[in-house]
Amino acid sequence: MESRAGLAATPGALPYYVAFSQLLGLTVVAMTGAWLGLYRGGIAWEGALQFNVHPLCMVIGLIFLQGDALLVYRVFRNEAKRTTKVLHGLLHVFAFIIALVGVVAVFDYHRKKGYADLYSLHSWCGILVCILFFVQGQVQ
Ligand code: HEM
Repeated sequence: MESRAGLAATPGALPYYVAFSQLLGLTVVAMTGAWLGLYRGGIAWEGALQFNVHPLCMVIGLIFLQGDALLVYRVFRNEAKRTTKVLHGLLHVFAFIIALVGVVAVFDYHRKKGYADLYSLHSWCGILVCILFFVQGQVQ
C-alpha cells in the first residue's frame, strides 16, 4: 500500500515480528553451535568432527541467512531499490557459500569414511533444496 508521500506504509507490528524472527534465528544458530560444541566435540575439517560442519553451515546458511535475505525487501521497504537489491544479493551469496561448505563437508566426510551417499530421505530432500535454491537464483 502506498502512502500519500509515495512511501510504502509499514505495518505497525512489523518491527516486532522482525525482532522475533531474528531472536528465533539467532537462538537456532546458538543452540546448534552449543549442541555441536558441548555434546559432539566441536567442529574441524579433518577427522570425525568434519561431519559437524554440515549441520552448523546448513543452519547458518540456508535457515538464518537465506531467511534474512528474504526479509530485506520488507524491513527496508523505504530504502532505494538498488540498495536493498545489493543487500539481498549479498546475503544470498553468503548463504550460498556457507551452505556449499556444509554440503561439501558431509559428502567429503562420507567419502573419507567409505559411507554411501544419498541413502536417506533427508539427503534427497536436501539435494532438492539445493537445486531449488539454485533455480530460484536463475529465475530472478
Ligand atoms: C537446509 C539444510 C540441510 C540440507 C540442504 C542438507 C543436505 C544434506 C545432503 C544433501 C546430505 C547427503 C550427503 C551424502 O549423501 O553424502 C545430507 C546428509 C546428512 N545430513 Fe543434512 N542437510 C541439511 C541440514 C542438516 C541438519 C541441520 C542436520 C543435523 C542436525 C543434518 C544431518 C545430516 C546427516 C546425519 C546426514 C548423513 C545421513 C544422511 O545422508 O541422511 N543435515 N544432508
